[in-house]
Order: sequence, then C-alpha cells, then structure tokens
Amino acid sequence: ARAAGKSKVGFSQCTTLEPWRVQFNKDIQAEAKNHPDIDLIITDGQDKTEKQVADCDNLIVQQVNVLLISPKESAGLTGVVEKAIDAKIPVIVLDRNVDTKRITQFIGGDNVAIGKAAGEHAVKLLGGPGKAAGNVVEIWGGMGTQPAHDRHDGFHAFTDKEPGIKYLLNNQSGDWKQDKAYDIMTTALRNNEKIDMVYGHNDPMAYGAYLAAKDAGRDKDIKFIIGIDGLPDEGVTWVSKGQLTATFLYATPGAEGLRQAAKLLKGEKLQPVITLPTMLITKENAPDILKKNGLL
Ligand code: FRU
Repeated sequence: ARAAGKSKVGFSQCTTLEPWRVQFNKDIQAEAKNHPDIDLIITDGQDKTEKQVADCDNLIVQQVNVLLISPKESAGLTGVVEKAIDAKIPVIVLDRNVDTKRITQFIGGDNVAIGKAAGEHAVKLLGGPGKAAGNVVEIWGGMGTQPAHDRHDGFHAFTDKEPGIKYLLNNQSGDWKQDKAYDIMTTALRNNEKIDMVYGHNDPMAYGAYLAAKDAGRDKDIKFIIGIDGLPDEGVTWVSKGQLTATFLYATPGAEGLRQAAKLLKGEKLQPVITLPTMLITKENAPDILKKNGLL
C-alpha cells in the first residue's frame, strides 16, 4: 500500500567501506532531492552477504514499491532478489549482477568493454601489438562478482595475443580492497625481480600496489599501473600525480538508478539494460577532470 502520494524506494547498497560506494550513495541521495514524492530508504550491507540479504528482507517487509540493489556478489543475493519479485516488487540491479533474468532492469558500466580498453592500452604501453613484452601483475576484484570476471576477460582478449607478455600471479583477488592489494603486491615483489605492469581491477587496489612498490623502494621500476573507477579525488588524482599510469571511468549508477525507479513508479516501461559510458584517463586529461571537479 502506498502512503498518501509518496512512494517508497528501497536501495540495498552492499558496502560503504569503499570510496566508490560512498560516491554512489552521494549520487543517489543528490538525485533524491529532485523526487520529493519518493521516500528513499538506503541500507548498508557492510560488505557481508548475510547482512545484505537481511537488509533486502527488511525492505520487502516494509513493502517498498521498487527495490534497487547493488549486490555484493551474484550467487548469494539472487534468492532474495527473486523473493522480492515474487512479492511483486520490481527490482532494478545496479553495477554487479545477480543470476536471474526476472529483474526489471540492469544499470551499470560495460566491464568487458572497459577490460578490453585496459588490455588494448596495456599492449600499447608495453610496446604495441605483436611486439608487446613485459611481466604483468593482475589483481582481481571480488571473485564472486561479474565485474571482476569481465574486467579480466576483456583485458586478456588483448594481452593474451602477445607472446611477450607474462603473467606473474595466478588469479589472486584483492577483493576490491587497497590493503589486500598492498599485501598481494608485497609478496609479488618479493618473488619477482622484474615487474613491468600492474593491472588492478579498481583504483584502490592499483594504488595499494603502488604503495607496496614504493615501500619496497621499487616504484620507479614498475613502469605502468592501470586501475579502474576514475573517482576525481582518488584515481584521477593518483594519475595526475603519476602514481597510476591510467584509469578508466566507471560512473556510479546512483542517479540513473533513482531516475529509472521514478519512471517505473509513473507507469513507464523500462529498457532492460542501461550501459553507462567510460573513458580513458591519463596524465593528459586528468588535470581537466580535476579542474571540472574543483580539485585543481
Ligand atoms: C566498489 C567497487 C568499485 C568497482 C565496483 C565493481 O565496491 O569495488 O571499486 O568499480 O565495486 O563492482
């Protein structure tokens, strides 16, 4: 039942422990100001699947009119998403997917395309197609998430064609976290005399790898560090300082997510997928982005 003219939109966020998630919540809250007829309820899964499932259960009990969810991982959140749909609550999934086709809409970046762009850039940096050579450390995001797999697959679609590229790690996950990536890189540095490139599935992990190299006195030897996310006060700043070589914008689906929920509440039909754009960020365009965001 809808309270006098107001609709309830629930948003289950998986965590607020990562900077990109904090920005995501800011974006949806800012958009909420344009929708006075929507009561937005945001929950924080605290990076735990069980907590996020409980949050969704709670939003179902509160009979939200639309459920927005950005799941921690695919498998563990699929059940509760289907439960919401069974309770006639339409679900819009943001950034990371779930394993069901019954959702109303998915909004997120194209992580295969981003991975490919990263792979293409990596090949260029390492000497160009057919000539690329170097030792690469890849640090995975969460293994249970589609973005990590897509970012891996996209990258390798380009780099695997290069016999001169060697991979030093075997699918090691930093679970999107800077400190875990720092530890992975510290071990990689200990075990390998020559590391030419780091590919982190997000900027915090790429930066964690940079810090590990710096603390080991080897930051000058690691020629290229590539990340993904491109938050102005993180990735873009690190690129402009030369700590990262490049990053790729991964816009948060916060504002678009709420706009789409509002459309749905007005009875409009939603397109099944909205893909958010990306862009390569290097030392060349980083200052412009910083200026636009009042950071330079
Ligand atoms: C934040 C994050 C981002 C990344 C996204 C992928 O939790 O790790 O850094 O781009 O999730 O789902």
